Amino acid sequence: MAQNNIQSTLMENRQFPPCESFYKTATLTPKNLDALYAKAAEDHEAFWGDLAKQEIDWIKPFTKVLDDSNAPFYKWFVDGEMNVSYNCLDKQLAENADKTAIIFEGEPGDVQHITYRELHQKVCVFANALKAQGVTKGDRVVIYMPMISEAIIAMQACARIGAIHSVVFGGFSAGALKDRIEDTQAKVMITADGGHRGGKTIPLKNTADQALSDGCETIQTVIVFKRCGNDITMQQGRDIWWHDAEQGQSTDCKAEPMRASDPLFLLYTSGSTGTPKGIQHSSAGYLLNAITTMRWVFDIQEKDVFWCTADVGWVTGHTYVTYGPLATGATMVVYEGVPTVPDAGRFWDICSRHGVTIFYTAPTAIRALMKAGDDIPRRYDLSHLRLLGSVGEPINPEAWMWYHRVIGQERCPIVDTWWQTETGAHMIAPVPAVTVTKPGSCTRALPGIDAAVVDEQGQEIETNQGGYLVIRKPWPAMIQTIWGDDQRYKDTYWPYFDGKYYLAGDSARRDEEGYFWIMGRIDDVLNVSGHRLGTMEIESALAAHPAVAEAAVVGKPHDIKGESIFAYVVLKAERPENGIDDEMTNELRAWVAKQIGAIAKPDDIRYADNLPKTRSGKIMRRLLRAIAKGEEITQDTSTLENESILLQLQGKA
Ligand code: PRX
Repeated sequence: MAQNNIQSTLMENRQFPPCESFYKTATLTPKNLDALYAKAAEDHEAFWGDLAKQEIDWIKPFTKVLDDSNAPFYKWFVDGEMNVSYNCLDKQLAENADKTAIIFEGEPGDVQHITYRELHQKVCVFANALKAQGVTKGDRVVIYMPMISEAIIAMQACARIGAIHSVVFGGFSAGALKDRIEDTQAKVMITADGGHRGGKTIPLKNTADQALSDGCETIQTVIVFKRCGNDITMQQGRDIWWHDAEQGQSTDCKAEPMRASDPLFLLYTSGSTGTPKGIQHSSAGYLLNAITTMRWVFDIQEKDVFWCTADVGWVTGHTYVTYGPLATGATMVVYEGVPTVPDAGRFWDICSRHGVTIFYTAPTAIRALMKAGDDIPRRYDLSHLRLLGSVGEPINPEAWMWYHRVIGQERCPIVDTWWQTETGAHMIAPVPAVTVTKPGSCTRALPGIDAAVVDEQGQEIETNQGGYLVIRKPWPAMIQTIWGDDQRYKDTYWPYFDGKYYLAGDSARRDEEGYFWIMGRIDDVLNVSGHRLGTMEIESALAAHPAVAEAAVVGKPHDIKGESIFAYVVLKAERPENGIDDEMTNELRAWVAKQIGAIAKPDDIRYADNLPKTRSGKIMRRLLRAIAKGEEITQDTSTLENESILLQLQGKA
């Protein structure tokens, strides 16, 4: 387990009790939180069953809370029927029809306010447009959009008619998009001509065309939203403008009754092997935890302006943009662009102009904005903020303190939320009016979530010792399976402990007070700027280059991105002098960007004659990680087949 991390977080012992002003208005106080924990401990199923009745409008009520007869394929609220979009929109019409649902801001500065009534209408019209294109319940729809309101409308429209959406992040390449389309066998793709990001126009439709140019036979229709007006080509008979597809469609669209466990969406994420996995989520269970965590962790209230900065291409942009805020009738900000356009004050400017009260972002953004200096946020009025959140990777205490001091002005609690694409919603996180926070710890598991740190045998591990992070009881928003691959689901998440505990893939420790400290992944998954990337995915991309014989990729600590990508490459030709070849490096970086997306570009590439392998041919990644960090190699290397290669990799030969 990661000893270095244990050392650095063990030294962190600052504590921050909830501030009084917050405490007075919060929904969850110590007393009702204790009651929730007690109820969950007493009867796990009744606990979730009661919440599901309370929080979700059912078309047909469920009679069984949890079907565990085919574990680990757990089904929650099995015989109940409901519709997620109904619960997000129609439900709000009674009291919140004129309340703003979305405050959208484009990167160029255009602002649009959409009320719940308007959003409901827009979703209905677009849902009818999808139906007119032949989309029916159970069909897959791939969404490849910029971060604009229409991405949310497209997702909600799919949910309304029972189509399964799969959003692909707009930064992914044509190749990555094609793999996902082919795995889902999608019938329709929804995209835009382009999106504004980083001061540039991202040519989404052109990339989509490339993805479709070879394979992807299942796609019959491409619906294109006009966002940037950039030049694109529309293929006759396949492509249709969004506004044309909407022509003549009614603002009435009945929400399709869905079984609780019918898939709401697929979202691809990286694992230890080369191909990304389509994480399949349910309808009712997923929605329930999106709602409960909006209340418990974000303390969402009537007057809040909630802003989660995540893109809809990631799970955070599903649960805390498209579903959680709408299902709780919140007003939320949606921003199209990057935090540094026109300058590093953009986030704070948006917070101040739109009166954001709850702000949720990733440590990588916090670190980048921290580097830009305290003067920038000080130019803006951040007095509306009352709660701050962090997600995606461990937040280092220094960034936590800056967030607390400069952005939260020592007034706002910070909720460091641990969860995953697979968990659907927050699992381990502070309850802001109750939990004493410690910089760098995601604190305690939420009510009804049985998280633990265990050894190989599944026994809880001693205080401050690293172990496997597991969830010992099923929870409503849990992953249902990997799309089309039940066996991989079982092998990946339930491989040990008699298949009874969900294996998160993270290592963690618990301190004297039972607080969780996440230490890093136990598999070959990197976390670069909060984005999950499989080392094998990047290795396969590199190995696909005609000049490359073999490649190994490891993570290296990075002060802004959390981790950077370090690649060791064996070329088919001779090794360049000193293991450095700038021209080849530029070419390989561009190649990986083309194969996967710019987020997967290696930061460093070192060339070698060979890679350190055991006699059975396994690459010794531990050694490669140590070399990338510039550490001395202390472990025994005598079992290596080619021990001498280490000197070359270290630049000593
Ligand atoms: O390693 C953990 C890290 O991100 C992984 C999940 O990545 P993904 O599925 O892309 O979802 C990210 C957004 C939910 C986890 O296995 N991670 C996520 N949140 C935290 C974290 N590590 C430490 N602290 C967190 N708060």
